[in-house]
Amino acid sequence: MKTIHVQASRAYDVAVGGGALNLLGETARRAARSRTAMVVSETTVFPLYGAKAAAALEQAGFTVYTHIFPAGEPSKNGAEFLSLVNDLAARRLTRSDLVVALGGGVTGDLTGFAAACYLRGVAYIQIPTTLLAMVDSSVGGKTAIDLPAGKNLCGAFYQPAAVLCDTDLLETLPAEIFRDGCAEVVKYGVLAGRDLFDRLTPESIGAGIVAACINEKRKAVEADEFDNGARQFLNLGHTLGHAVEKESGFALSHGQAVSVGMVLIAKAAAKFGLCAPETAREIAAKLQAFGLPVTTDLAPDAILAAALGDKKRRGDSVTLVVPRAIGDCILQPVAVSELPQWIEAGVEPWT
Ligand code: NAD
Ligand code: GLY
Repeated sequence: MKTIHVQASRAYDVAVGGGALNLLGETARRAARSRTAMVVSETTVFPLYGAKAAAALEQAGFTVYTHIFPAGEPSKNGAEFLSLVNDLAARRLTRSDLVVALGGGVTGDLTGFAAACYLRGVAYIQIPTTLLAMVDSSVGGKTAIDLPAGKNLCGAFYQPAAVLCDTDLLETLPAEIFRDGCAEVVKYGVLAGRDLFDRLTPESIGAGIVAACINEKRKAVEADEFDNGARQFLNLGHTLGHAVEKESGFALSHGQAVSVGMVLIAKAAAKFGLCAPETAREIAAKLQAFGLPVTTDLAPDAILAAALGDKKRRGDSVTLVVPRAIGDCILQPVAVSELPQWIEAGVEPWT
C-alpha cells in the first residue's frame, strides 16, 4: 500500500493499492469525532461494494446510514444534491460526523459538494471506484453539480479528509469506462515525462501507475489549489476535448474526447514549430494503444463554436496547454481570433 500525502488547505492522505477499502474503519475513526456516518453511493456501485463499506464502518463503531441515487451523470444535479443534504439533515448528522463517497466521479463530486454545504462543512472520505475518479476527481477537492446551463457550474473547493483508492475495485469496471480513465493516465504521462509516459501500456495500469498519476495530481494541487495557475496544466487536451465531446452530441465519451483533444493540440503545436512532429505522433500512438480515438470528422467551425463556449475562457483569450515535448508542456494564452488556426492545424490530416 502506498500513501500519498496531499498538503492542501486541509492536508490528507491518499492510500493507494489493492485492499485500501479495508482501511475504511480506522480511517473513518481518525476523520470523525462522532460515530455516525452516511455512505453515499449509486445504483451500480452500491450493490458491488456498499455492504463491505458499511460493515467496515459498523465494525469501527459507527452507526451507518446509506443514501443511494441513480447511477450516471444526469444525477449530478440540483435535485439529487437537495435530496442528499435533506437526508443528512433527516438523519441528524452533526459537524463531527462523517460522509463517505463510494463511487466514480459523479458520486465524488455530488457528495463532496453536499459535504461542503451541509452545516457549512462536514468531513468526507472519497472511495473512488473508477480509474478516472482514482487518478483525478477524488483528489484535489473540486466538488460540483451540473446546472442546466452547463457541467460543474455550481461547486466548491472542499478537500476530503482522506482518500482510499482501492485498485481492486477496478476489476468490475466495464472496459469502455476503464478506457476513458486511460486518457487521463496518458495525460499525466505527457505532463510528467518519460519516467511515466514510457511505462504506460494497457497491461501496466495498476496500483503503481495509479499512484504515479495521483502524485502528479498532488503536485498540481499543492502548487495551485484554487486553480489560478499550475493546476491548469491538468487541462491538457480538455479545452478542445470538451468542444469535441459537446459537438459530437456526447456520442464521444469524455475520455475519448480528451484523447482527440490532446492529439489536436499536439498536432497544432507541431505545425507551429512548438514541438517536434514525432512528439505529436508519439502521443497519438500511445492513445491508440489504449484503444482511444485520435481524429475527428467534426468541422473546425463546429469545434470552434463549442470551444468558445468553454467556461474556462477568460475574456478574449483561451489558455491552451501545449506540449513541447514529453514532460514539457506550457500554458499558452491564445487570442480567440487565433483559435481557428489552432483548430484547423489540429484537424489537418497527418503529413
Ligand atoms: P461515473 O461516476 O458516472 O462512473 C462511470 C460509470 O461507471 C457509472 O455508470 C458507474 O455506475 C460505473 N462504475 C463506477 N465504478 C464502478 C465499478 N467499480 N464497477 C462497475 N461499474 C462502476 O463517472 P466517472 O467517469 O467516474 O466520473 C465522471 C465525472 O467526474 C464527471 O461528472 C466529471 O465532471 C467529474 N470529474 C471531476 C473532477 C474533479 O476534479 N472533481 C475531475 C474529473 C472529472
Ligand atoms: N480535473 C482537473 C483538476 O482537478 O483541476
